Amino acid sequence: MLHKKLILIGFMGAGKSTVAPLLAEALRFEAVDADERLLQISGYTSIAEIFAQKGERAFRELEARVATSLRDSSSVVIATGGGVIHQPENMHHLICNGGVVVFLRASFDEVTRRVKDISSRPLFKESTRAAALYHERMPIYCKYADLVVDTDGKTAKDVSSEIISLLQG
Ligand code: S3P
Repeated sequence: MLHKKLILIGFMGAGKSTVAPLLAEALRFEAVDADERLLQISGYTSIAEIFAQKGERAFRELEARVATSLRDSSSVVIATGGGVIHQPENMHHLICNGGVVVFLRASFDEVTRRVKDISSRPLFKESTRAAALYHERMPIYCKYADLVVDTDGKTAKDVSSEIISLLQG
C-alpha cells in the first residue's frame, strides 16, 4: 500500500475515533486521536473542561497545534475532531507528507443517535445549533475528501474494511 498517512474527517459521532484504531491495526500503522493528543499537551482532562474554562477559541488554538505537530507523521491513521476543517492551515498540515483524507459520512439522525453523551461534546448540546453546524460543514468535508465512506448502519469494522478496499482499489 502506497498511502502512509490517513486522515479521518467527519462530524461528531461519525465514528472517526472508533474506526482509527481498527484501521491502524489492520494496516500496522499507529492510531492517533487528535483530541486525545490535545488533552495530553494541554494538561486538561476533558474537551468539555477546555470549552467551559477557556472557550472555543482556546480549544481551536490547541487543535491547530496538534495538526501542526502531525505534519511530518507517517504510518499513522489520524482521527481528527469534527471541527478541524474550519482552519485551512490544519488541513494543510494534516495532508502534508502524502496524507489521504477519508470522510466518514453519517446522516444527522445517525450522529444524533451515536452521540449519547452530549456532555462530552460542547457543540452538540443544542440540537438546533448542532444541525446548523452539520449542514454548514458537509460541503467542507466533501471538499477535502479523497475518499467518502457512508457509515449509516455499518459497524466500525465494516467501515475499516471498506476503507482498506477503497485504498487497494
Ligand atoms: C468538535 C468535535 C469534537 C471535539 C470538540 C469539537 C467539533 O470531536 O474536537 O468537541 O467542532 O465538531 P469529535 O468529532 O471526535 O466528537
